[in-house]
Amino acid sequence: MSEFDYDVLVIGAGPGGYVAAIRAAQLGLKTACAESRETLGGTCLNVGCIPSKAMLHASEYYDAAANGAMESMGIEVKPKLNLTAMHGQRTDAVDGLTKGIEFLFKKNKIDWKKGLATFQDAHTIKVGDESVTAKNIIIATGSSVTPLPGVEVDNAKQVVVDSTGALELKKVPKKMVVIGGGVIGLELGSVWNRLGAEVTVVEFLDQLLPGMDGDVRKEAAKIFKKQGMELKLKTKVTGCTVKGKKATLTLEPAAGGDEETLEADCVLVSIGRKPNTEGLGLENIGLETNQRGQIETDHDFRTKVDGVWAIGDVVPGPMLAHKAEDEGIACAENIAGQTGIVNHDIIPGVVYTMPEFAGVGLTTEEAIEKAGGDKTKVKVGKFPMMANSRAKTNHEPDGFVKVVADAETDRVLGVWCIASVAGTMIAQAAQAMEFGATSEDIAYTCHAHPTHSEAVKEAAMAVQGKPIHI
Ligand code: FAD
Ligand code: NAI
Repeated sequence: MSEFDYDVLVIGAGPGGYVAAIRAAQLGLKTACAESRETLGGTCLNVGCIPSKAMLHASEYYDAAANGAMESMGIEVKPKLNLTAMHGQRTDAVDGLTKGIEFLFKKNKIDWKKGLATFQDAHTIKVGDESVTAKNIIIATGSSVTPLPGVEVDNAKQVVVDSTGALELKKVPKKMVVIGGGVIGLELGSVWNRLGAEVTVVEFLDQLLPGMDGDVRKEAAKIFKKQGMELKLKTKVTGCTVKGKKATLTLEPAAGGDEETLEADCVLVSIGRKPNTEGLGLENIGLETNQRGQIETDHDFRTKVDGVWAIGDVVPGPMLAHKAEDEGIACAENIAGQTGIVNHDIIPGVVYTMPEFAGVGLTTEEAIEKAGGDKTKVKVGKFPMMANSRAKTNHEPDGFVKVVADAETDRVLGVWCIASVAGTMIAQAAQAMEFGATSEDIAYTCHAHPTHSEAVKEAAMAVQGKPIHI
């Protein structure tokens, strides 16, 4: 008999935590998972990836019908928005998937400890009135919205909201201001822009989508402007007052200067997310967070405290569901004595707007910097979607694929795509890079015709200066 109640106890049932729990159980470990939400699935399934994609998908159909895209293909429709029904299909998707995780927990005999978990010592947590012990505890508590001082979020009022509030607006705002031109701002800004709101994005930096390739960021600004969004780059929000159903924001150039005001019926605060460690009782086990509030681990996801592991948004790295999932699998495998590895250099990122923006590996700027600033050590091949037969036929001319390669070895260092299905296209780039592919390897791989993915092949051919269709 073990001296512990469980071999593994996971705190948090998001994509990091629930996946870690399932893998641990599959490997024969007695597993429990503490989750304080009413449903499993974490941010991703409840208020993140899934509901945002449900609204993006539905609003894309509406936009195609309302803004002439269907007409151009010979389909004449006069759409009428039923926002309640649109929200209904969003909540149906969330219900179905969160219940699916509950089913998987039962199937794998994982005990769900309902409530907020606090460490009492490195092998004991308190959930509600219950104390539970485990040989290994995985912290997978995720992240929550970063607040913006002076701009108070009140999701119930639906005037100043965060991403959770912006998913549930009962009315299409006339004027919406999005603070932060990152992933959430552009995805949820796109939803309400498509449904008829006038959307202004206020971004502190000189371009949208920090972290993406420079060319992609420049193109993003052009594309979102063309879609009717107003962009206020290099601008910061300094305050917000709410009177009834209206908000007035004060803005200032990022470098300082004259203040201006902006009125809105709805303000979305999307300036990033912060790791969830408050109330976890880390002080009881002597575990400190770094300057960014994250829990540091080694390559195996071990924290400094023996028997305590951490994965997902609460540890350094991109805050992405698939990164959390892969860390969950690797962490459970390491606990079981196997070799669990995540290649953090090859984590794709996708922005699910129309077109989608996707990338994996190094940006051109990062590749040049890594080469000591020597531009001749990096080769780039680019191919426009306009010259891709499928994208052209589908009336989806925006975007390009860019392959960044080492000039000497031809090894692919990064791939960047803007295309209607860029999120799907980027998977082949990630896989090729995992196998250490050269641009020639991609160029000589037969791609089905007519597909958007042929643009990846052509961009790889362009690294050697020999694409066929441009
Ligand atoms: P989380 O999913 O945050 O789960 C942590 C869980 O732990 C939560 O359910 C929380 O209730 C629970 N918890 C916290 N503390 C305790 C405690 N003390 N006791 C018990 N339970 C606790 N990523 C993508 O890859 N693709 C996308 O399309 C995407 N879209 C997004 C859209 C939005 C609007 C948002 C907000 C995020 C999106 N993300 C997306 C990011 C993604 O949701 C996160 O990266 C992912 O959920 C992180 O997983 P996690 O398991 O680390 O944490
Ligand atoms: P983000 O980090 O993507 O973008 C925040 C933006 O706000 C940045 O461009 C930043 O420069 C800007 N900003 C910061 N402070 C500001 C200020 N005071 N005024 C104006 N602009 C300011 O963060 P976001 O969009 O909130 O998303 C959080 C996380 O959620 C992301 O890290 C992302 O990984 C994840 N996510 C992923 C999605 C996906 O994979 N498709 C979708 C949605 C979220």
